[in-house]
Amino acid sequence: MRGDDAQDSAGDSADTLAGTALSEITSELAAAYLDMVNEFEAAGEDYGWNDVDLARHDFTAFVDDLRNESLDIGLPPDIVPQTTYVLLDREGRALGEIRFRPHLTPPFEQHNGHIGYNVRPSQRGNGYATRMLALVLEKARALGLERVMLPVRDENLASLRVIVKNGGVMERTGAELGSGEIVSIYWIAL
Ligand SMILES: CC(C)(COP(=O)(O)OP(=O)(O)OC[C@H]1O[C@@H](n2cnc3c(N)ncnc32)[C@H](O)[C@@H]1OP(=O)(O)O)[C@@H](O)C(=O)NCCC(=O)NCCS
Repeated sequence: MRGDDAQDSAGDSADTLAGTALSEITSELAAAYLDMVNEFEAAGEDYGWNDVDLARHDFTAFVDDLRNESLDIGLPPDIVPQTTYVLLDREGRALGEIRFRPHLTPPFEQHNGHIGYNVRPSQRGNGYATRMLALVLEKARALGLERVMLPVRDENLASLRVIVKNGGVMERTGAELGSGEIVSIYWIAL
C-alpha cells in the first residue's frame, strides 16, 4: 500500500469513529437496538446483558425499566443503578452497548465493576469498544469519580486490550469464586 493510501485509510477510520456517539435508549431506537440484538443471537452469542425478551415484546416498557434502573427507582437494595447507552453511527445503526454503574457496592465491586460493554459481531476490530469506553470515562470524570474498576476474564484478549488502551492497570488476578474463571481486576484512573 502506498503511503498516501495508508494515510487515507487511517483518516477514514478516524472519521468513522468521530461520527459515532453514545445515546441512552429511547423508543425511537427500537428497530436499531433489536437489529443489533438479533445479530448477536444469529452469531450464537446470548444477549444476557439486558432484558431483551421484554425489549422484543414491549420496547416502551423496556425503555422505562432502563430509565428506572438508571435513576434508582424501585431497585432491590442489593442492585446498584446502571445507565445503558448504545453507540450509534451516522446512519443511526447501533454498533454496541455500554453499561455504566457509578456507585459500586458488594457484590458488584467484585463481579461486574463500573462498566461493561459489547460490540456487534460484524463491527468488531474497528475501535468501537475503545471509543465507547473512552466516552463513558468522560461521563465518570464529569461525575467526580476518581477511578473506575473493570473485571475481565483473562481469555478475553480483545477486552483486555480495550481496557489497557484506555489506561487500565491491573490490580490483581485470580480465580473467581463460584465460576472458578480466571478474572483480572483493572482500574482506570480518571
Ligand atoms: C470485547 C469487545 C467489546 C471488543 O470490541 P471491539 O470493538 O472489537 O474492540 P476495539 O476494536 O475497540 O479494540 C479491540 C482490540 O483488541 C485487539 N484484539 C482483538 N482480538 C484479539 C485477540 N484475540 N488477541 C489479542 N488482541 C485482540 C484488537 O486488535 C484491538 O486492539 P488494537 O486497536 O491495538 O489493534 C467485543 O469483542 C465483544 O463485544 N465481545 C463480546 C462481549 C465481551 O466480551 N464484552 C467485554 C466483557 S469484559
